[in-house]
Amino acid sequence: MAPKGLYAIGLVLSAAASVRGQSPQFGQCGGIGWTGPTTCVAGSVCTVSSPYYSQCLPGTATSTATGPVTTPTISPVSGNKLKYAGVNIAGFDFGCGSDGTCNVSGAWPPLTQYYGMDGAGQMQHFTQDDGFNVFRLPVGWQFLVNGVLGGDLDPTTFPEYDQLVQTCLDTGAACIVDIHNYARWNGLIIGQGGPTNEQFASVWSQLATKYADEENIIFGVMNEPHDVPDIGLWAQSVQAAVTAIRQAGATKQMILLPGNDWTSAQTFVSDGSGPALLNVTNPDGTTTGLIFDVHKYLDVDNSGTNTECVTNNIDSSWAPLATWLRENGRQAFNTETGGGNVASCVEFMCQQIAFQAQNSDVFLGYVGWAAGNFATGYPLAETPTQTGTTWTDPLLVSSCMAPIAGAQSGSTGQ
Ligand SMILES: *[C@@H]1O[C@H](CO)[C@@H](O)[C@H](O)[C@H]1NC(C)=O
Ligand SMILES: *[C@@H]1O[C@H](CO)[C@@H](O)[C@H](O)[C@H]1NC(C)=O
Repeated sequence: MAPKGLYAIGLVLSAAASVRGQSPQFGQCGGIGWTGPTTCVAGSVCTVSSPYYSQCLPGTATSTATGPVTTPTISPVSGNKLKYAGVNIAGFDFGCGSDGTCNVSGAWPPLTQYYGMDGAGQMQHFTQDDGFNVFRLPVGWQFLVNGVLGGDLDPTTFPEYDQLVQTCLDTGAACIVDIHNYARWNGLIIGQGGPTNEQFASVWSQLATKYADEENIIFGVMNEPHDVPDIGLWAQSVQAAVTAIRQAGATKQMILLPGNDWTSAQTFVSDGSGPALLNVTNPDGTTTGLIFDVHKYLDVDNSGTNTECVTNNIDSSWAPLATWLRENGRQAFNTETGGGNVASCVEFMCQQIAFQAQNSDVFLGYVGWAAGNFATGYPLAETPTQTGTTWTDPLLVSSCMAPIAGAQSGSTGQ
């Protein structure tokens, strides 16, 4: 949900090993470095995914435990590995409110040359030590065009953002260009009283022209639309962006299509977003590369502002969404998720990721919120700390979100 601010809470972190005797369904039950339980609750079987990770998957129980077992519907299962895992590198979006007001001078580049944190070094660490392969780079629309709606990419401000994009591309990872404006410009909604679809298409046309030959760029059309009155009109605004991107020559890259209600994975179908966005196509009529963008947090109100996690979102969100995506032959990408660096979040996040991986035919992956310029005291910080050339990840990253499980730290060299 992109809460902003620097927090001074000192979290005392401890090892995340479960104190229980058995791992829950979709929980970890083995792997190099794993010190938690190695048996699974009834109805699931400990299954090796890699030398680093075994998990409890639904299946014939070898346990003698009794009691009701709820088995999420996860058929068909295809593959076991998400294509993408990554982290949001925040900073260029600082100064943006959820009403689409973005203060250009409030943006804080997560680059040392602009007195920010070392976003470039973070991304190198995340790729080399943790196995991450995608970064989402939020930026305010106003920053890109220096406050001129419908204007050109600004020759002073845009190159600052582009430096972050280039350092991302240099890692070999995929890089999501995310306009972080909540479907708005200064309080007014695109195509519904605010900017015209042409003005929205203009910024995307210019960005797509700039990155047309970069295969690892992913275009994130808009962060978290919310309270958009007409979802059909919103789909037309998204269509305008897609058409502009393709016509600018970026014909192969992925484009992320966002729905209403803060892009919630839970309400993507029920609020009409999914059905409306099914209509969005490439200029040739296909939907190749058009991926639905969904967010989900694990705290009590899905706001991403609470340190504790209370759900793995499987029954409420991921299982029904997987079914709908299969029915429609489409895929989704979870570009914001996260939680505090506490045991409850380790448990539920590991379960959520395991479920997504079990359904990797429809889920492309996840991007954690957030590193970049967030201080390590921020409740959802995924910001690593650097000592010399050694980086250390916060608990949730090292225990769950990093594809290379158990990668606590490492050296990026010089
Ligand atoms: C914009 O950000 C700058 C720098 O943080 C701050 O000084 C200024 O007060 C902000 N303006 C508004 C309108 O919030
Ligand atoms: C999809 O497009 C068709 C044809 O333009 C239209 O009739 C239909 O209402 C649209 N569906 C949604 C959910 O917007």
